[in-house]
Amino acid sequence: MTTPTSTVTFPKIYSVMSPKGGVGKSTSLSALALYISEVRNQKVLLLDLDNIATLTNNFQGDKVRHPELSNVTDLYVDPDGKDMLKVSVVRPNIHLIQGDSKIHEINSKNSIELISLLEDNLHQRIPDISTYDYILIDTPAGVGNSVLSALICSDYIYSPIDLDTNSISAIDELTRVLKPIKRRMNPKLAWKGLLINRVAKLVPVLGARLPEALNHRKIYTDITSKYTDVVLGVICNRNAIQRAVTSGQWIAGRDQSSLDAIREVSTFCENLLETKA
Ligand SMILES: Nc1ncnc2c1ncn2[C@@H]1O[C@H](COP(=O)(O)OP(=O)(O)OP(=O)(O)O)[C@@H](O)[C@H]1O
Ligand SMILES: [Mg+2]
Repeated sequence: MTTPTSTVTFPKIYSVMSPKGGVGKSTSLSALALYISEVRNQKVLLLDLDNIATLTNNFQGDKVRHPELSNVTDLYVDPDGKDMLKVSVVRPNIHLIQGDSKIHEINSKNSIELISLLEDNLHQRIPDISTYDYILIDTPAGVGNSVLSALICSDYIYSPIDLDTNSISAIDELTRVLKPIKRRMNPKLAWKGLLINRVAKLVPVLGARLPEALNHRKIYTDITSKYTDVVLGVICNRNAIQRAVTSGQWIAGRDQSSLDAIREVSTFCENLLETKA
């Protein structure tokens, strides 16, 4: 096994992680890629470890795959002596290692070596790695090998949640998994916090904006009081977001809901990317 050695400037790696499915991991990571490229004019490499390849569908087109280019299963081989990977240039500033459903084979294998291969391949086989500002990794729900491999090589992670009654247990599960990774395998890993996503409606209450539905408001208050200072943003369930992200475009409308969407998504991205001195 090769230990990563690098003299080039290496991009910051952000992964999204959540034990719970369908909370907006792929949507928020796609929006983050668009924010970095469109608003900040910086360059991103996306790794699509999601079993159903949502990022690839969003940026490359539904079920459009280029077999002559690399896919994520190429990131789980011994990199020694292998050719450089071939990334898919989906936008001038957004490049992608395509998703592939065969990633499920990586998740079902029992091999401790497997989980370090992603980092080794990123360090050895990505062309022009120093030209990227960020590497963003989308992961499937749960804690399979692909998620562990992402946690081992990441600088930062964040976790979207919805206002479901199981959300607090999901955060507790996340904290439990991260502890040994940070202690033993990747001490530099920093959990940036939570994105509260898909909120049905926010209304003004005593100077704050809170979920309109009282059951959601209760979960929101429980989360924000238990996890003070780690809420990176609150994003409503908005057609404008779904429409933009699934076509790989930054939010374009000028109606009130689109403007609110831009504000909510931008605030989340700024808070996530902010690095404290
Ligand atoms: N803020 C939002 N507004 C509108 N639709 C959203 C929003 N966030 C997510 N969605 C929609 O919710 C669904 C689930 O989102 P997404 O695929 O991003 O979740 P996920 O956590 O990646 O799911 P999985 O665990 O299956 O990978 C998708 O149809 C997506 O378009
Ligand atoms: Mg997903």
